[in-house]
Amino acid sequence: MITGFLHMHSGLRWVALVLLVLTVVRSVSGWRGNTPFSEGQRKLGLFTMITLHIQLLVGLMVYMTRGWIGMLKAEGTMSNSYTRFFAVEHGSLMVLAIVLGTLGYSLSKRAADDATKHRKQAMYFGLALVLILAAIPWPFRQGFEQVGWF
Ligand code: HEM
Repeated sequence: MITGFLHMHSGLRWVALVLLVLTVVRSVSGWRGNTPFSEGQRKLGLFTMITLHIQLLVGLMVYMTRGWIGMLKAEGTMSNSYTRFFAVEHGSLMVLAIVLGTLGYSLSKRAADDATKHRKQAMYFGLALVLILAAIPWPFRQGFEQVGWF
């Protein structure tokens, strides 16, 4: 069950990344090309936001079931880059990214004209994408840790 959550969390990252890239690419091209904001584009933003929210819930399950919450109080957690990353940095940055993604959907939905709808989606989902790419524990991170970059 616990490993199931971790596998789901790991796999869902690809769905979130593909949807984020599609949303950003399509909204930037709509913004620059001054094209109408279609119902399909609104739904794409909606599905992206829903996927991020599911990832948040699964992430919280992983955080609680794999003992990371307890690590917050443990001695030495903050001085070790690996434990600090999963106990504090990863979750906080991802929550911020998910808030940005949620704003991207709702502000775009409320915007008065099509250009602003595209622009809000492009900016907020774009920022969320950058944060998520930076906060994912990619395998090369370990190499960076060894040379003291993290
Ligand atoms: C879009 C948001 C997120 C993405 C793309 C993401 C992605 C990932 C990935 C790829 C891993 C590595 C999985 C593996 O080792 O196979 C991971 C691990 C982890 N994530 Fe997230 N995550 C997100 C949000 C969150 C949130 C909001 C939390 C909760 C606070 C969280 C908590 C964790 C924890 C605790 C681990 C370490 C699991 C372990 O090895 O014990 N994640 N995440």
